[in-house]
Amino acid sequence: MEITARYEEELWKPISLEETNEELLERIRIAKDKLGTSLRILGHHYQRDEVIQFADKTGDSYGLSVYAAEETTAEFIVFCGVHFMAETADILTNDSQIVILPDLSAGCSMADMATFSQVKRAFRLISEITGEAPVPITYMNSSAEIKAFCGEHGGTVCTSSNAKLALQWGWEQNHRILFLPDQHLGRNIAFALGVPLNEMAVWDPFQPNGGLTKSQLLNSKIVLWNGYCSVHQRFLPTHVDFFRKKYPDVRILVHPECSFEVVQKSDEFGSTDYIIKRIERAAREEPNSKWAIGTEHHLVGRLQKRFQNVLKISNLAFTTCNCATMTRIDPLDLAVILEKLVDGKVENRILVKDDVKKNAKLALQKMIEITQQ
Ligand code: 13P
Ligand code: SF4
Repeated sequence: MEITARYEEELWKPISLEETNEELLERIRIAKDKLGTSLRILGHHYQRDEVIQFADKTGDSYGLSVYAAEETTAEFIVFCGVHFMAETADILTNDSQIVILPDLSAGCSMADMATFSQVKRAFRLISEITGEAPVPITYMNSSAEIKAFCGEHGGTVCTSSNAKLALQWGWEQNHRILFLPDQHLGRNIAFALGVPLNEMAVWDPFQPNGGLTKSQLLNSKIVLWNGYCSVHQRFLPTHVDFFRKKYPDVRILVHPECSFEVVQKSDEFGSTDYIIKRIERAAREEPNSKWAIGTEHHLVGRLQKRFQNVLKISNLAFTTCNCATMTRIDPLDLAVILEKLVDGKVENRILVKDDVKKNAKLALQKMIEITQQ
């Protein structure tokens, strides 16, 4: 497929998806002021500009979970991100703290690709077929029940920023890992750690025995769940080819949720936080360099605006790769939820059941320990 870009001058400019509503922003400011230190707003890097500007702490999914674990005084944590992130904050904060997701429909299609019962079944079948239990490692993008299952079965959680450490730790426990739900993150990281593709198997939860033979399972060092991110799979090898051909000095920087082929063709890959730090460094050390970035639209747009006088930055796909669920949280949701808190009403609370919390916390604490050691 031949790729043609928008008009060349358009390629390197931020495109705004939102209209700013000053009245709503003012309502948020007023409510936030009234709530003072009883409130902390957390914002993931993929949030809309008009929402993330109110965050007391911005970060990737790992950074925000560590912040939630350390923030022990705020009564209300309003999480501008997606459901699994708010659940994680509820697991890691203390029982008197209240975690709120401004729009309950802000989920993650990748997290929905692995259900608790499917994971339980996969773990049992892999254990029976191979004769030993794999180490279950789940990406943060999963339900609290799945995190608890990993905690209960000697596994852990990882994010895109610490997946390398988590996999290395996993292989110290046993020689086979069950990694879910993002096959791309698992494959990209395992390959970077030296595991050949023929020692990776992909588990399809809708097929008997995951669609795998006994010898495929026995031969695998890692069994990858066949989930994916609908946003990051839109970046294609042809996009990389386009940039390389047209701008031979371009640097390609992508998130590890992109496909193996895209990551292999890129110059660097890393979590959302890594991408931001890498671009900040480029602005200091490599002015005028060109970057095509493969991750969510809002993050790339903010980097484009922030560094428009220093760097040339384009979205790798040069179409809008927007996480539709992340951006469900809009200024109206935030204004309404904060005004309710001012009136003493808690809505959209995310509350993980105590029995799930215990083992999910074990898995998350293990992740933090592996990362910080
Ligand atoms: P990070 O771990 O980089 O924050 O990514 C989370 C996510 O959902 C990316 O799609
Ligand atoms: Fe989920 Fe992908 Fe959105 Fe991240 S970008 S929250 S993985 S759908």
